[in-house]
Amino acid sequence: IPVDPFDLVIFGGTGDLARRKILPALFRRFCAGQMEEGTRIIGAARSQMDDVEYRAFVAEALLEFNSGHSGCEPGTIKRFQKTLSYVTLDARGEEGWDALAAKMHPGRVRAFYFSVGPSLFSDLAQRLHQYGMADHDARIVVEKPFGRDLATAQALNRSLAEHFDESQIYRIDHYLGKETVQNLMALRFGNMLFEPLWNSRYVDHIQITVAETVGVGGRGEYYDRAGAMRDMVQNHLMQLLCLIAMEPPAKFDPDAVRDEKLKVIRALGEVGRDDLVRGQYLADHEKPGYLEHVENPDSITESFIAMKLNVINWRWAGTPFYLRTGKRLSDRASEIAVVFKEAPHNIFTEDTGRHRNILTIRLQPNEGIDLDVTIKEPGPGGMRLVDVPLDMTFSEALGPDADDAADAYERLIMDVVRGNQTLFMRGDEVEAAWAWTDPIIASWEARGDKPIPYATGSFGPEDALALLHRSGRKWREIR
Ligand code: BG6
Repeated sequence: IPVDPFDLVIFGGTGDLARRKILPALFRRFCAGQMEEGTRIIGAARSQMDDVEYRAFVAEALLEFNSGHSGCEPGTIKRFQKTLSYVTLDARGEEGWDALAAKMHPGRVRAFYFSVGPSLFSDLAQRLHQYGMADHDARIVVEKPFGRDLATAQALNRSLAEHFDESQIYRIDHYLGKETVQNLMALRFGNMLFEPLWNSRYVDHIQITVAETVGVGGRGEYYDRAGAMRDMVQNHLMQLLCLIAMEPPAKFDPDAVRDEKLKVIRALGEVGRDDLVRGQYLADHEKPGYLEHVENPDSITESFIAMKLNVINWRWAGTPFYLRTGKRLSDRASEIAVVFKEAPHNIFTEDTGRHRNILTIRLQPNEGIDLDVTIKEPGPGGMRLVDVPLDMTFSEALGPDADDAADAYERLIMDVVRGNQTLFMRGDEVEAAWAWTDPIIASWEARGDKPIPYATGSFGPEDALALLHRSGRKWREIR
C-alpha cells in the first residue's frame, strides 16, 4: 500500500549505515511502488557535496549493496535519484540548517533519521527545534547504541524529550524488524496450540542463540568499548527474550506490546558469576584474532557471551533461559528454541531414549519454524521412537515471495512513516534493559575477569557448554 509523500532526512547520509542499509531499504520500497511521487529523501552530512554528487554517491551504494534483490529495473535507479537531494550541514554549528528547513514541505510527515553517533543526538534534536522543524508532524529515528549504561541512556532520553514527545521517537532495534521475529508473535498469539503450554509447567528451558561468523574488523574501536553484552545482549537478545516471555498483550498496539515487554525486563533475575561465560576469539592461520582487530593487546572485552538467566514471575519461575551470542563462530545462525519437558511417563518400554518436543524459531538463515515431534521409528523394529521435525521453512511453505521478505530496515522505516511504534523500543524499555545489564558488567569489571580465548570457527569457549551440561541439558548445534 503506497504511503502519502513524506520528507525523510538522513543525518549521516554519507555514512556506512546509510549506504549499506537505509538507502538500499528505501530504494527497494521505491521499487515496490510504495513511495508516492513527490517523496523527498534528503541526505545531510558534513561533506561538501551537491545534489548531483549525492545522487551519484547513492547510485554507487545501491549497486554495491542492493545486488541480489530482485524487482528493481536498472532504469529505476534514475527515477529514485530524482527523490534525492543533499544538504551540507554541521550538527553542532549553524551551517546548513536554514537550507534544510527550506526543503521541508509543510503539513507532510517528516522523519529525521539520526544515523550518527549518540553524542550528536542532543545537538540534532536541539537544532531541529531551533530551526522550527520539530513540530508535531516530525518523527525522529535513532539507532543503537542507545547509551552505554543506564545513566547515559537516561541522559539521551532526557535530551530528546526536551524537544520531542515519546510518540515521536523511534528507537530502532533492527531485530524487531526481522520477519520471523514478528512471526513469533503471530505464532504465540494467533494460535490456540501453543499458549496453554507456554509456561514453566511444560517448558523445560529456552535457548536463544545469535551466532555470527564475522569478526569485529572495521568496527574495532566502537566494539572494544562495547563488547557482546552491550552490543547484542542488552538490545537484540533482550528483545527476543521479551517476545518469548511476555504475557499476551490485550491488543497488538504499540503501548500494549511494550508494556508487556517492559514487565519481562523488570522480572529478570540477577546473573550469578557461575552462570556467565565470556570469551574472546583467537587468530587462526588466515585471519587475525580479536586483539589484533581492535588493536588493543590488553583488551579484556568479550566477543562471546553465554548466560543462564531467570525470569522471576508466575509463568516462568523454574524455567531457565540460556542466551549466547558471539563473533567468529562456526556458522551464522540465529534461533530460539523452546524445549518442552519430557512426557511424564514412558509407556514404550522398548524405547529407552529421551524425547522432547522442541519448537525452533529460525531467524536466519533459512527463516522458518519447526517443531520436533516424537513418532514411531518406521519399519518392523517394534515401538522405538524417533524425533522428527515438522518443518515450515517460510520460502517453501509460503512460496518464493517469502524469500524476498522485506529487509528489516524496509519494514521499520515504513513503520516510521506510517506512525506505528510497535516494533520500536520505548524509552523506559531501554532504560530497564540497562538497569539489568549494568550490575552484571560492574561485577565482572570489579573482579577484573578476563574473557576465555576461543578458536575461530568453534562454538565459543568450552565453559559455555558446561553452563547447560551441569543441569543435564545441552546447547542445540549451530548449523
Ligand atoms: C548489530 C551489531 O546491531 O547487529 C553487530 O552491532 C552485529 O555487531 C549485527 O553484527 C548483527 O545483525 P544481523 O542482522 O546481521 O544478525
